Amino acid sequence: AAPSALPRDLEGRRVVISAGGTREALDPVRYLGNRSSGKQGYALARVAAQRGADVTLVAGHTADLADPAGARVVRVGSALELRDAMHTESRDADVVVMAAAVADFRPVELAASKIKKGDRDPEAIRLAVNPDILVELVKARSAGQVVVGFAAETGDEAGDVLHHGRAKLARKGVDLLVVNAVGDGLAFEQEDNAGWLLTAEGDEHPIPHGSKSQLAATVWDAVVPLLGT
Ligand code: CTP
Ligand code: CA
Repeated sequence: AAPSALPRDLEGRRVVISAGGTREALDPVRYLGNRSSGKQGYALARVAAQRGADVTLVAGHTADLADPAGARVVRVGSALELRDAMHTESRDADVVVMAAAVADFRPVELAASKIKKGDRDPEAIRLAVNPDILVELVKARSAGQVVVGFAAETGDEAGDVLHHGRAKLARKGVDLLVVNAVGDGLAFEQEDNAGWLLTAEGDEHPIPHGSKSQLAATVWDAVVPLLGT
């Protein structure tokens, strides 16, 4: 292998990372989905493996991404499948990272056969709230397990990106929350950061603009000091 400047500071650690978007089925051929590429979660998996971790990547739908070298990949479709996989895989993990874009809602009804156009007005799609997987994982976590969440925030009349990030950190109960500022040129923005890394201890580190690999390295740099021996 090529010589690497990366630290091997995740050697012997088991990490579980979710990535990509969930798809919520309407019928056998249709779904509600989102535009998540999965790239950030894949970068986290790749960098963790390079730093010596035993990596499991739970992947929803992604852009056409190659499996990260050294990671075991578990594929899922819906939020409920992602939830099952994360509970199973995280049981003996040292670190759990929720980078997936989980659909907040799913259709109440799943048609057994393809919905036909027919000759009447379409019916509204009724939605149910999906479970908050991250909150569940925090509740179920084993002693010493580090849990990391992601949030994309724009800021609005209620507050700026950092305000929403702080509120989400508290609501989710995670050790680390990576807050990405999205939608550039927002009037509410005061600083030109890519976002913040917020810790449960109240530390707030600005994240400079950079690649997804750089952000992955920043996240692992913040996780390592939280790991026990
Ligand atoms: N998340 C999750 N389960 C859900 C929704 C979100 O585990 N049902 C996780 C995401 O993977 C992410 C974090 O929670 O790590 C924040 O997701 P986000 O969509 O920003 O938060 P929500 O709680 O859904 O709030 P909102 O969409 O209203 O901002
Ligand atoms: Ca959401």
